[in-house]
Amino acid sequence: MPDDRRARGDAEFGVPFPGRVLPGERWTKTGLRDPGGAFDWTAVFGRLAPRVVDLGCGNGRYLIGSALARSDRDHVGVDLVQVAVDYAAQRANRRGLTNVRFVIGDAVTWMFERFAADSLDEIHVYHPQPYYEANAVSRRLLTPEFLERTWTVVRRGGLLVLQTDNKAYWKYLLGAAARWFAPEPLPGPWPDAPRGRTRREIQARLKGLAVWRMEARRRDEPLDVAVPEPDFDANRPRFRRARPLR
Ligand SMILES: C[S@@+](CC[C@H](N)C(=O)[O-])C[C@H]1O[C@@H](n2cnc3c(N)ncnc32)[C@H](O)[C@@H]1O
Repeated sequence: MPDDRRARGDAEFGVPFPGRVLPGERWTKTGLRDPGGAFDWTAVFGRLAPRVVDLGCGNGRYLIGSALARSDRDHVGVDLVQVAVDYAAQRANRRGLTNVRFVIGDAVTWMFERFAADSLDEIHVYHPQPYYEANAVSRRLLTPEFLERTWTVVRRGGLLVLQTDNKAYWKYLLGAAARWFAPEPLPGPWPDAPRGRTRREIQARLKGLAVWRMEARRRDEPLDVAVPEPDFDANRPRFRRARPLR
């Protein structure tokens, strides 16, 4: 890569990607083949450290920024789509990161079969697909069963971070997550990434969509409230006038 491009780093929609590309001799290998069975964090990272997971991580923008800013934490990103994971791993490799891995996989499998109970410190889900068509609603990721498993997998005092640009999904999550976590909606944008933590956040804001975010701390005991299935009407959004990102 030419030196000037290395120094500039790369960008999406005019928003620089976190970190900078290092000389080739400092590149690492962050793509991971699903090993099957329970995920052995200590063997993979060679240490015991707090653990951060991004489900549906896309091209890894959030997780790479977090791994760069929080070298004392280990990070795993999971996404169904190979090309997204390849981009994420390539960018992380070129930044010389050793505290992140990207894997092609289903978030449901990873939550129920790879991550053990009481083993994670943070789970992040940015812009889960709302699935607008009635016959695809059953594919929504954040169901009561999934949120309950999230509570089981996250350690006492741990964090769930959720973000969406779909108002109906947001309303559902505010209510549903509250059984297991204490949602704190954040008036955006993120202080650590004012132009967007993820590719989809940047895109949504360029399209003039609102973005809703919450940090939700794990409750020691779930509330005794019923949580409906996510069978809401997701109302495909109409875009407002595109606004430049500041
Ligand atoms: C709208 S994109 C958001 C990507 C990224 N989080 C962002 O904000 O830019 C949703 C992502 O979730 C992934 N995804 C959907 N269902 C998934 C599942 N069951 N397991 C893992 N990834 C999933 C998709 O492949 C896609 O990359």
